[in-house]
Amino acid sequence: MTKFKSDFLWGGSLAANQCEGAFDEDGRGLDLMDVIPGGLEARRAAYASPLDYMDENVEYAPNRQAIDFYHHYKEDIKMFGEMGFKCLRISVNWTRLFPNGDEKNPNEKGLAYYDSLINELIKNGIEPLITLNHFNVPLYLAKHYGGWSNRKMIEFYCRLVRLLMTRYKGKVTKWLTFCEINVGLRIPYFTLGLLYKKGDDIKQKQYQAIHHQLVASALAVKIGHEIDKDNKVGCMIAGGVTYPYTCNPSDVLKAFEDNNQELMMTDVQVFGEYPYHMINKMKKEGITIQIEKDDNEILKNNTVDFVAFSYYASKVVSSNPRIKNNNFGKIQNPYCEASEWGWIIDPEGLRITLNFLQERFHKPLFIVENGLGAIDTVEEDGSINDDYRIEYLKAHIEQVKLALDDGIDLMGYLTWGPIDVISATEGQMAKRYGFIYVDRDDQGNGTLKRSKKKSFNWYKKVISSNGEDLDNN
Ligand code: BG6
Repeated sequence: MTKFKSDFLWGGSLAANQCEGAFDEDGRGLDLMDVIPGGLEARRAAYASPLDYMDENVEYAPNRQAIDFYHHYKEDIKMFGEMGFKCLRISVNWTRLFPNGDEKNPNEKGLAYYDSLINELIKNGIEPLITLNHFNVPLYLAKHYGGWSNRKMIEFYCRLVRLLMTRYKGKVTKWLTFCEINVGLRIPYFTLGLLYKKGDDIKQKQYQAIHHQLVASALAVKIGHEIDKDNKVGCMIAGGVTYPYTCNPSDVLKAFEDNNQELMMTDVQVFGEYPYHMINKMKKEGITIQIEKDDNEILKNNTVDFVAFSYYASKVVSSNPRIKNNNFGKIQNPYCEASEWGWIIDPEGLRITLNFLQERFHKPLFIVENGLGAIDTVEEDGSINDDYRIEYLKAHIEQVKLALDDGIDLMGYLTWGPIDVISATEGQMAKRYGFIYVDRDDQGNGTLKRSKKKSFNWYKKVISSNGEDLDNN
């Protein structure tokens, strides 16, 4: 059986807005995630109609303090080092470096923090992978420029990219341009920085914003390659293949269309041009986007070096309206279990997704998020026996091994939230992914003390055996 290569990148993945906290320290500006409440219902409502829920004086916004990684990063990185991480994916918070987003010069205190964070990773033998934008739009840019629907965003983003790639030349060689670019169609608030009310027709703005992100992404590849020939710049999608509910050709067609929709931005990032189905979709929906003179050339000449993706679940679609979306708006796959949050658990789907993406894109792949959001219980003696998490990860890594045997080209495997963080969709702390528990609850109470869960030593063993020993014992 094919083995993991010796330089395989095991590790974990974080996002600044979900872990850093310290929202008002050292000159940081406000980000869109700082002005919305937490909690399952409140978050969903806010994403559906942000203008009704955004509040700069919101009583409690969980992302503002998060897990205070800003002050705990040395302690946390030490624990990642103890687990043997080869790589940690981090993101930079735009508002820490450019508080409003449109300044000409960066905030030196913000830079000093990222300098120290990156040095700390390197000191612990951990390669940093930087997501240049992970669900991170400065509030000011959303309010005053209309977020990514405004072309000026390309210029502001490129200023940030140039700054980071110049400053960390030789220290960081792997970059992702945007986290889960395909989420922009579903949640345009924190991805595209669009502000709207429920019922507003924002389709036109959404596609324009996506075009701007695609051009910005291509320019980030260009800047990366110009600054350092060793730079590898990748794109990233929310992965997870879509299955037809039955073999009814109408279901198969629906699944085919859904996969195309999820991957159409990646098609542009990999092949350098809009795919026929995306052009057709816009035409049918009456959307005309403004494409400037050089845009097509920029897209064509600056395609990505690798394709990264997150994988939590597969998806099922049906052409039959009687098949109910009874699983939190999703169709439950009768062959799979679901998590406490209704996310389908489908390890084999990861093998399918890997083959599907390899076949479509012919690029090295990188799993940069995988994990189980679950409620953990701290026992009286302080232990946390998260066997369910171990079983989930074990089953997925087993499928990764099978995919390697299928011949896929994989750079690494990073788990989501190696330390508990604020959940992106629900703004909850209770939905935990980590190997490291953080004492904080959904109301913001807790000591922030870190402790190891049972999965901590398990993952340590997985890494030290280079994926050979997955047993939970
Ligand atoms: C991915 C995001 O979509 O899923 C992360 O890149 C997010 O930011 C992760 O946290 C898990 O989702 P959630 O909503 O459970 O936090």
